[in-house]
Amino acid sequence: MAMKVLGISASPRLKGNSDLLLREALNGAESAGAQVEYIRLCDLNISPCVECNSCYKTGRCRIEDDYQMVLAKLIEADRLIFATPIFFMNVCAQAKILIDRCQCLWANKYVLKKPLITNGEHDRRAMVIAVGGTKSKKMFDSVRLTMKYYFDVLDMQYVANLFINKVDDCGQIKKHPIALKEAYRLGSELVSSATPPPKKTIDVELT
Ligand SMILES: Cc1cc2nc3c(=O)[nH]c(=O)nc-3n(C[C@H](O)[C@H](O)[C@H](O)COP(=O)(O)O)c2cc1C
Repeated sequence: MAMKVLGISASPRLKGNSDLLLREALNGAESAGAQVEYIRLCDLNISPCVECNSCYKTGRCRIEDDYQMVLAKLIEADRLIFATPIFFMNVCAQAKILIDRCQCLWANKYVLKKPLITNGEHDRRAMVIAVGGTKSKKMFDSVRLTMKYYFDVLDMQYVANLFINKVDDCGQIKKHPIALKEAYRLGSELVSSATPPPKKTIDVELT
């Protein structure tokens, strides 16, 4: 069976920089034989976590919106490519809303001790694409930390980052000499299951 790769695009800009990189990474994954699916968070209705903590008892988020559909896809995926612009030194709000809603996975894993993703032998891996407009690179540290905790609750190994700074205008990434090629390469490598996951997360930082 083909490996399932889920691509999540968090940018509010359709065909913005992180979105274009994600599409290229998914092309790479598809070329390596995976079945890919692309989701754009701005097309969905996902409200923020209200901290009702009902998931601590039920294991389920009680807000009925598009999150439930995304959660099902997150649980099914073998690989995840999560793409976000940098907003105020971290992932954008659309990304953070989805991440916070996954508190029910945290509750299942750490409170109820009944992980939703039960098969511990399931080889699940994830990578991050993030683009910032400024010359700073400090924001990538915040992204690393947020995504480390997120992928832990998803029971996914954090295998790679593609971080790009100094790219600001919508679609400007198309003029970058190698960024799209790197996205394609990382997307294709993500699905080569013959390769064991790297011991340390691969960091590709481009300017
Ligand atoms: C609300 C907002 C906050 C931003 N904050 C940062 C920031 O903290 N650091 C940075 O380098 N760029 C920042 N930017 C610039 C974006 O990261 C940049 O335009 C990026 O290319 C957007 O990616 P996208 O096209 O995938 O949406 C910000 C942009 C907006 C709209």
